[in-house]
Amino acid sequence: MAEIKIAVLVSGGGTNLQALLDAQARGEIPGGRISLVVSSRPGVYALERAARAGVPAEVVARKDFSDTDAFCGALLDTLRRHDTGLVILAGFLSILNETFIRTYPNRIINIHPSLIPSFCGKGYYGLKVHEEALARGVKVTGATVHFVNEEPDGGPIILQKAVDILPGDTPEALQKRVMEQAEWKLLPRAAMLFCAGRLSVEGRTVRITEE
Ligand code: GAR
Repeated sequence: MAEIKIAVLVSGGGTNLQALLDAQARGEIPGGRISLVVSSRPGVYALERAARAGVPAEVVARKDFSDTDAFCGALLDTLRRHDTGLVILAGFLSILNETFIRTYPNRIINIHPSLIPSFCGKGYYGLKVHEEALARGVKVTGATVHFVNEEPDGGPIILQKAVDILPGDTPEALQKRVMEQAEWKLLPRAAMLFCAGRLSVEGRTVRITEE
């Protein structure tokens, strides 16, 4: 079978992108290849990571477009030019429109830094998610990888991993622990499972076939 071309969409530091690049370098994503990185912001460190790994990168800057539709149109053009088969949102913080989401049904994967359906949806991104988890006093949080549909953070869940909250945690300390213990493991694994054809979606449930 032809290898699936993966486009990773980023907006910031790109540690999740790095986890994907490292997994690929170790041969852990057979059947897929990260062939493009697209950033919605110029000058972010994720672009440097792509360059170091020899992966082509493009900037489609959100600020260059007057609205979401124009921005998503440009994004779609870029992905089509690169024959993208799987889109991975790795800390991508711009809103995608319906046209974009419908172009890649169950072919867009997002990583979110909480156990969905807690601390998710509109306005929940980055450090804010961890601030809210600490403010609510939960004892366990984690990360979720899911397919993207029209509902913010509401698509079928692929993988989740729990992470303990510890006494004295700050949002920054918690963010780091959730990344290290959950995000950087879950996202490459989800990419591997997708590229191996082991994920199937039935309603809101994702089935994972055994090897
Ligand atoms: C990650 O923690 C990711 O889960 C989060 O942004 C961070 C990006 O870090 N994404 C969201 O909050 C999406 N709602 P990175 O650029 O170092 O991968």
